Amino acid sequence: MTEDKTLWWNDDNNSVMLIDQTLLPAEYKVIEITTVERLADAIRRLEVRGAPALGVAGAFGVALSAAHCLSDIEFSETIAADAALLKSTRPTAVNLAWGVDKVLRSMENLPPDMARIMSLFAAKTIAENDTKSCMLLGHYGAPLLPQIGTVLTHCNAGALACSSWGTALGVIRSAKKMGKSISVISCETRPLLQGSRLTAWELARDNIPVVTIIDSEAACLMRQGKIDAVIVGADRITKDAVFNKIGTYMHAVCAKYHHIPFYVAAPASTFDAGASESDIVVEERSRDEVANLFGRSTVPENVPVINYAFDATPLDLVTAIITDKGVLYPPYNFGDLK
Ligand code: MRU
Repeated sequence: MTEDKTLWWNDDNNSVMLIDQTLLPAEYKVIEITTVERLADAIRRLEVRGAPALGVAGAFGVALSAAHCLSDIEFSETIAADAALLKSTRPTAVNLAWGVDKVLRSMENLPPDMARIMSLFAAKTIAENDTKSCMLLGHYGAPLLPQIGTVLTHCNAGALACSSWGTALGVIRSAKKMGKSISVISCETRPLLQGSRLTAWELARDNIPVVTIIDSEAACLMRQGKIDAVIVGADRITKDAVFNKIGTYMHAVCAKYHHIPFYVAAPASTFDAGASESDIVVEERSRDEVANLFGRSTVPENVPVINYAFDATPLDLVTAIITDKGVLYPPYNFGDLK
């Protein structure tokens, strides 16, 4: 996994290749995407997911739009419509809009031929820089983890959520490389099981000791003294909160109660320092994800479900934020990050 990429550009066909994450761990399958509509669907269905990977997907999406729009007359309108479609797919992870906008800026005021070249160059650069950022996160974050210990993580902030290496799992990988003896507790992450399906899969593949628990077991293990630190990724960091997979807030509250450090690992592209928690739209996903399990209904038909994909953790619960520019401690000041 560590040498593999999660998504990449295929120069032969001007297409996007990605690991279909809905099939893991049962099946490892790489799919080829040739249209922006199909890419938008892949993002909605979580075939590609995780904030940094969504940034790369958004960037490749604009390059895909430019590469396949052969009409010079409708070029600008097509790119603008495709960019809007991509951005509308998932509202909470700021990296998606960030990746789309960065590639749009690279092609501003250029004729279509040049715009096609520049958009692809910009998108590939975003993908390469994402891996570099993850390695830097690992470099800065690894010293924070214990020499020997157990770290709890939630959802998947690993190589599968990025171009490669990972944010929270990147820090764990770097700690292992430094010679630390870290084992991981991976929360299952209801309802779509990114923790048990993806985090456990990629860590086991790298021979990093990993155990999966149901999400509600975390507090009990903290109380038993079995967890030395918590580390998670982020979908967006505002001036007052960290948005991450639903359940993260619960772990942060429990960690504070049990005096366990709670770390967030995220690149600068995940910060939205001008915004506050109340400005952010939290994605709500379908009832089906909660009310159907293994093809069977698990909630009575007349009972509604609330299915937020993310929650917000106030910054006073966060011990430190590990970024690709260094480690930030309270009181947080994000002014110099971008
Ligand atoms: O709904 P998902 O699977 O896209 O949610 C992903 C997360 O919440 C991750 O923790 C976050 O994007 C950080 S990934 C480095």
